[in-house]
Amino acid sequence: MRHRSNTALKRKSLLTAKVLRWYRKNGRQLPWRNEDDPYRVLVSEVMLQQTQVSRVLTKYPRFLKRFPSLRRLTNAKTSDVIKAWEGMGYNNRALRLQRLAVTVLDEHRGRIPGNIQELEALPGIGRYTAHALACFSFGQQVPVVDTNIKRVLTRLRSPQSRRPAPKEEDIWDLAESLLPRQHSHDWNQALMDLGATICTAAQPKCDRCPLVDLCPSAYRVSRRTRAAKKPEPGRDGIPNRIYRGRTIQALRELKTPGGMTRTALARKIKPNFTSVDRRWSESLLRRLQKDGLIRIRAGNRISLPE
Ligand code: ADE
Ligand code: SF4
Repeated sequence: MRHRSNTALKRKSLLTAKVLRWYRKNGRQLPWRNEDDPYRVLVSEVMLQQTQVSRVLTKYPRFLKRFPSLRRLTNAKTSDVIKAWEGMGYNNRALRLQRLAVTVLDEHRGRIPGNIQELEALPGIGRYTAHALACFSFGQQVPVVDTNIKRVLTRLRSPQSRRPAPKEEDIWDLAESLLPRQHSHDWNQALMDLGATICTAAQPKCDRCPLVDLCPSAYRVSRRTRAAKKPEPGRDGIPNRIYRGRTIQALRELKTPGGMTRTALARKIKPNFTSVDRRWSESLLRRLQKDGLIRIRAGNRISLPE
């Protein structure tokens, strides 16, 4: 690598050594880290997309017990997959996971491909998940960039006091250039842990960071001023996301097969429901129906999809 100066190379190997040593001592024990079966890694990554690690820890083994293989997931009733997703939130992911499994069955004879291009061509698999599968299941020496890793690399790259956020592509390039071949799996997992536990968004703990001597942002990250978040669409101060979750939960808990009426369902998810909420609740249901999460049956009763 002629283009890179000796100092940069030394810095890189020092950085790698420090991170890997830190990880061996401080890395979290997470069940999916001992997995290389692509289906099991895929399930963990889809769960971790929008749910915190502590919660995934309790739900992941249960889901895999219920659907131990990709084929079993494809054969399952969609309502059962949604039921098994209980407690995870963002139920659309349960549907996406099953649709993805069906595509893999149809297009790849049930074997998740190990090639990044083929992975990215699958529905619901983006650049991050494709790279995570390639690295964590197929042992490829490729970088991964998720929110945590992006933050760590951004801070390592240049002093982060008042800088504009770097371009996504630049971060992938940086991740590629830092990747220690032969140790990609541990390196990528280590960066995730560093970002989740030390180099956090709100307040990085530079005093406990293995990279403090190498990092241009050490003790220089300005505390995050809470960006004013765009308010989520909702009703009476509660986001529609929550009402969606309540709707699915009510249908999960239903013991009888006939479904629920619109009114019973509306009262269940919004105890102070009145006729002025009718239009809002109708559009909530239409949206859930469009997403494939509920079925509105003859006689207007509502249930989970078959
Ligand atoms: N977030 C996304 N993927 C993860 C992983 N493999 N370990 C910990 N957190 C994650
Ligand atoms: Fe993050 Fe601070 Fe460590 Fe730099 S020194 S990587 S800013 S925790």
